[in-house]
Amino acid sequence: MDRGFLFGDAVYEVIPVFGGHPLRLAHHLRRLDYSLSAVRIPPPLTAAEMTQLCERLIADHGGGDQILYLQVTRGVAAARDHQFGSDLRPTLFAMSRPASPPSAAPPAAIAAVVAEDIRWHRCDIKTTALLGGVMLIQQALAAGAAEALLVRDGRVWEGASSNVFGVLDGVLRTAPLGPRVLAGITRDLVLELARAHRLPCREEALTVAELARVSELWITSSTRELVPVTQLDGRPVGSGVVGPLFYNMWHWYQTFRQQVSSGVRAPDAPVQE
Ligand SMILES: Cc1ncc(COP(=O)(O)O)c(C=O)c1O
Repeated sequence: MDRGFLFGDAVYEVIPVFGGHPLRLAHHLRRLDYSLSAVRIPPPLTAAEMTQLCERLIADHGGGDQILYLQVTRGVAAARDHQFGSDLRPTLFAMSRPASPPSAAPPAAIAAVVAEDIRWHRCDIKTTALLGGVMLIQQALAAGAAEALLVRDGRVWEGASSNVFGVLDGVLRTAPLGPRVLAGITRDLVLELARAHRLPCREEALTVAELARVSELWITSSTRELVPVTQLDGRPVGSGVVGPLFYNMWHWYQTFRQQVSSGVRAPDAPVQE
């Protein structure tokens, strides 16, 4: 009778761990708090307790490179009823799985499709109710692609399970934060790295017309990191090969990852110029 199971009444986080160090744990826990408070689920633990739980999970799985998954549901109710009372005790679920070690070569480019965003209007909440995203990913796979770029009101906001970056006229563009996108932790990091390296960037969603003119297109997420998109709806993006800014950003990101992994860089510290 857990409401997470019955209603998808739950929120979650996915946290990469590099060399035993969780990447931007404080940011992830803040976003978890944001999601919890947006749906009025009381936090099951304090931030300090949650940090301890993550550290224990990492240690129990032998350190190294992992992906942590945290989920909090509203808890078990006596009856299946949409409404909820304030008496429920949230269910906390946590697990870890091994992650692939950093690769020496940039990731292979993927194809993507453009799709109408069929999800709800609060994509800023990281809810486990992901059926919209699940259907959209299947739609992409059926077309021989690996991600769907989601359009509302003529603009691309994010991917079905990623944030989207495009390079247009030399400027790196991604959608601004708001109810149409998840505030991706990788998105944040990519913007910080771009600014630190003086790459012009703007938080403004690409229009569908602009999408046809970008020279580069990337997706970002905690599990996939940065991935170039070189085919969109069966047509080449830009010249159809991975662009130079992607290689730069991938290198900056990998350097950052390496520094976190070796303990040289605090995993929560902002990237400085
Ligand atoms: C819809 C959506 N947008 C963006 C992201 C990227 O967020 P993050 O970089 O925090 O993993 C995800 C990650 O799963 C996602 O599901």
